[in-house]
Amino acid sequence: MRVSMIGAGYVGLVSGACFADFGHHVTCIDKDAGRIAALNRGEIPIFEPGLADLVEANVRGGRLEFAAETSAVAEAEAVFIAVGTPSRRGDGYADLSFVYEAVRAIAPLLAPNTVVITKSTVPVGTGDEIERILRDLRPDAGLQVVSNPEFLREGAAIQDFKHPDRIVVGTDDARAREALAEIYRPLYLNAAPILYVNRRTAELIKYASNAFLATKITFINEIADLCEQVGGDVQDVARGMGLDNRIGSKFLHPGPGFGGSCFPKDTTALLKTAQDHGVALRIVEAVSAVNDHRKRAMARKVVAALDGSVRGKIVAVLGLAFKPNTDDTRDSPAIPLITALQDLGAKVRAYDPAGMEQAKPALPAVDYCASAYAAAQGADALVIATEWEQFRALDLARLNSVMAQPVIVDLRNIYRADEMKRAQFRYVAVGRAGVE
Ligand code: UGA
Repeated sequence: MRVSMIGAGYVGLVSGACFADFGHHVTCIDKDAGRIAALNRGEIPIFEPGLADLVEANVRGGRLEFAAETSAVAEAEAVFIAVGTPSRRGDGYADLSFVYEAVRAIAPLLAPNTVVITKSTVPVGTGDEIERILRDLRPDAGLQVVSNPEFLREGAAIQDFKHPDRIVVGTDDARAREALAEIYRPLYLNAAPILYVNRRTAELIKYASNAFLATKITFINEIADLCEQVGGDVQDVARGMGLDNRIGSKFLHPGPGFGGSCFPKDTTALLKTAQDHGVALRIVEAVSAVNDHRKRAMARKVVAALDGSVRGKIVAVLGLAFKPNTDDTRDSPAIPLITALQDLGAKVRAYDPAGMEQAKPALPAVDYCASAYAAAQGADALVIATEWEQFRALDLARLNSVMAQPVIVDLRNIYRADEMKRAQFRYVAVGRAGVE
């Protein structure tokens, strides 16, 4: 099938490359001509394991192309919209201006009966508005609007796209359903279930899923706080809960709070939708507030580990990206943590394998280092903020020898207290006993 993808950002590029890999002919279109030129030179503008190879193979196979003009949509049977929907400055609503701009740009060019599919995360009712725009501009074209939300995770995007738990298709139109079935056929031969629902329901499934996952994380984070007070071990609590199939073990890892480009923005946008419809989503409200508070509060753990003050001390922070395998620092817990430490008078040195450039605008006063050990040099405490693989097996003896004080605050619980004790560190973890 001939497919166009509007938006060569995270979702657009991964989805486009994967659709091409299924055998479809895909054109990724982006109004950022510089980005398209870079893609045409084989440069991938985002950090995602496996994406460069996938793009290269499919470009070579003649199934994947990039264009800065929208004209390619004229040949497409299906056009996906995968442009950004950032949080609108000031009010927390999803900013849909890029979505509507894209729809208006493609409307005059679409062939009759084209299926237009939103992959961007858009609030309930956005599909209705897109349909109104298309009807106004092309009243007789028989265009169908479908919601097909994306559930992939940064850092595991290709795996998630190719092995989805479900594919959600929101439309009541039989022809549009057939088109989506055809696009995803290679996947459902692999037994991935396609869930056909109405369009508003599909839009809501995306937000409800993200809000629920954010709730799971926040729940275990609060249980971690309680464990610290009552002497429990949150890792064991999570394991004990997760073995119950009704609960499930995933997304029960305690930490410094959730970040990234999705959970914080999507929980806020869902709350706005609910408010507009006179519904109180009190659980989601609490999740959002608790998480916002938690990120900065992590600085208190560092203060406590350094006997009550970080003023004039050097704190090394390992990890700036909101999670491993990405260079994305948007809403990363490391940022409010570091700002709070600086506000309390600490000097912060940091290292991240991929996210240092991205962190610089938000954290200009940090001393960026070339490795974990360089960051630790002369530090009074070392904080693990992101669980990159390379931080999981640090040479503790070497760290101890270069640091001014042997203090580690492990916000991702990637070490065990007994190994820290052997290496003679004071060790603070989240929701379980450390080493005094
Ligand atoms: C999330 C969802 O997992 C995807 O299904 C969804 O498609 C995506 O948002 C989106 O809406 O586009 P992502 O933001 O890439 O994906 O990252 P996650 O792996 O979900 O992690 C989000 C945050 O939660 C990170 O800060 C992570 O450290 C934190 N987290 C995650 C925890 O603190 N504990 C956990 O157990 C899991």
